[in-house]
Amino acid sequence: MKKYVLKAGSTSLDSLVSIECDTPQVKPHEVLIRVHACSLNFRDQAVVTGNYFGGVLTEDTVPLSDGAGEVAAVGDEVTEFKVGDRVAGLFFQNWHDGPPNPTAGPALGAAGCDGMLAEYVCLPEAGVTKIPETLSYEEAATLPCAGVTAWNALMCGRRPIKAGDCVCVLGTGGVSMIGLGIAHAAGAHVVVTSSSDEKLERAKKLGAAAGVNYKSTPEWGPAVAAASNRGGADVVVEVGGAGTLAQSMQAVNFNGEIALIGVLTREGDTTPHPLMLKGASIRGIFVGNKAMAEDLAAAIDVNGMKPAIDKVFPYEDAAEAFRHQQTGAFGKVVIKI
Ligand SMILES: NC(=O)c1ccc[n+]([C@@H]2O[C@H](COP(=O)([O-])OP(=O)(O)OC[C@H]3O[C@@H](n4cnc5c(N)ncnc54)[C@H](OP(=O)(O)O)[C@@H]3O)[C@@H](O)[C@H]2O)c1
Repeated sequence: MKKYVLKAGSTSLDSLVSIECDTPQVKPHEVLIRVHACSLNFRDQAVVTGNYFGGVLTEDTVPLSDGAGEVAAVGDEVTEFKVGDRVAGLFFQNWHDGPPNPTAGPALGAAGCDGMLAEYVCLPEAGVTKIPETLSYEEAATLPCAGVTAWNALMCGRRPIKAGDCVCVLGTGGVSMIGLGIAHAAGAHVVVTSSSDEKLERAKKLGAAAGVNYKSTPEWGPAVAAASNRGGADVVVEVGGAGTLAQSMQAVNFNGEIALIGVLTREGDTTPHPLMLKGASIRGIFVGNKAMAEDLAAAIDVNGMKPAIDKVFPYEDAAEAFRHQQTGAFGKVVIKI
């Protein structure tokens, strides 16, 4: 079989190489997955450059947390899956339900845990979930990190969103475009921000009620509140980081919640005191657990949601897929295997 590895010491895509190796053999509690598609997340770029948790890789590591495929073999003790089941790996291999905890890891595709960019992958059955019946492998490969993160942000907070709420998603990347799909299906009024008017128009075709260009409107927080149906966003999908948090606090509604997710920007005013006046709060999000992945899959099948895919690359062009994602894709970048 073939798989990609990032060589130990990787700081650039020069270290991404495809190699031939033996197909792994299942242990009693493992499933062997024939991977059909993977998707990229912003964090995968950080793994390449040695800027993710754990720093520069000290061992050759298979990249990418997100991949979907079919079960090719099961170990003797496996009870949940059978050969032929359509599955994906879970971002956190040991977080099954309940609140975040210190033993959720390891996370696929980073230091200490090989990821999914391979023809075959063996995972413990507890680290695997069934994918939605209504999605292709390419579409389902977008869910383990970006999809579950968006679901957690919108559905697992102090007050899960409901019809008539306002949701603001920042930018048109992977997490935000899946967030748009979930919020729209729930009946929310979705306001999208973007650096591009053209992308805002595309987001409106996917159900966004309004768009604000954060480049031409640097004070976009009040503009989002003005574009809301109720004075502000009940949930802000905050993927921007320190440089966007002050505006997100302007955008959030009274009693609303900022889902603290991203680090796209590192510098800015992060004092939380504007939230005090609104009784609003910030909730840290770190992807999510298996129960969230299962609920997301069920919601997708009921609502017919389709994750926005910007472009699909063949296995041979994996490095090109990484470069394309750096340009600011609309939704997800996928690699077909
Ligand atoms: N905490 C977690 O569990 C978790 C999980 C997943 C992702 N994340 C983080 O969330 C962030 C987004 O991840 P992703 O995979 O969705 O990334 P992505 O697909 O690469 O999204 C990039 C998009 O973000 C938008 N963006 C960039 N700078 C922005 C800014 N200053 N304000 C608003 N939008 C901006 C741009 O949209 P436009 O082109 O439309 O301007 C860009 O296309 C990353 O920091 C990632 O590490 C965290």
